[in-house]
Amino acid sequence: MAIPAGGVLVDLACGAGGPGLWVASKARSRLAGVDLSVVGVAQARRRAQELRFERSAAFIAGAFSAVGLATGRADGVMSVDALQYAPDKRAALDEAARLLRPGGRLAFTAFEVHPERVADLPVLGDDPVADYEPLLETAGFAVDSCTETAGWRERLTTTYRAVLDAADTLSGEMGAQALLALGLEMSMTLEHDPYRRRVMVVAHTR
Ligand SMILES: C[S@@+](CC[C@H](N)C(=O)[O-])C[C@H]1O[C@@H](n2cnc3c(N)ncnc32)[C@H](O)[C@@H]1O
Repeated sequence: MAIPAGGVLVDLACGAGGPGLWVASKARSRLAGVDLSVVGVAQARRRAQELRFERSAAFIAGAFSAVGLATGRADGVMSVDALQYAPDKRAALDEAARLLRPGGRLAFTAFEVHPERVADLPVLGDDPVADYEPLLETAGFAVDSCTETAGWRERLTTTYRAVLDAADTLSGEMGAQALLALGLEMSMTLEHDPYRRRVMVVAHTR
């Protein structure tokens, strides 16, 4: 991602922190992770401690469109498989642009949807985006590449079916309530086939 050693990487919708910690350790950068889930943020903090990365990493609760970090300080912003959940994609990309220094790099993977298939669905039906490129341009990014990732549909289908098939075991491990939310998303995805593409995007601020 061309982050200078000691530079700042922001991981938007970092979840339990794994991908951001991996990239930051490779880039030798500092890391700020942000996620809507306080449970995810707590897990990310624990993971950073286990990896002895806690001095270089901070995790905070926040939304895509309201990240509590300073303007123009980030050298890189990343996000893995989460932007499709943002209720306002334009606001999310504006926020990513705000965080980055001029020339800073944004790299993310996310799903583009079929708007007509998600119209009545929760979350994915809020602000459905079939193509991120025009939004990126409007938010002030120059798009370096936007490519469909290989084999994503087979991997997603196989994984989601395997999780649903293992419901009994998983219920014991993660609890019935968490499994219900996960299972609903997975069965809804398999039933409605909402995703057009999973893309990997690299862009930079002008
Ligand atoms: C599929 S997980 C990906 C987590 C992480 N990026 C990873 O790859 O391990 C999606 C994440 O998006 C977060 N999320 C959903 N909506 C969000 C929003 N509006 N703002 C910030 N995070 C959000 C969820 O809490 C969840 O952690």
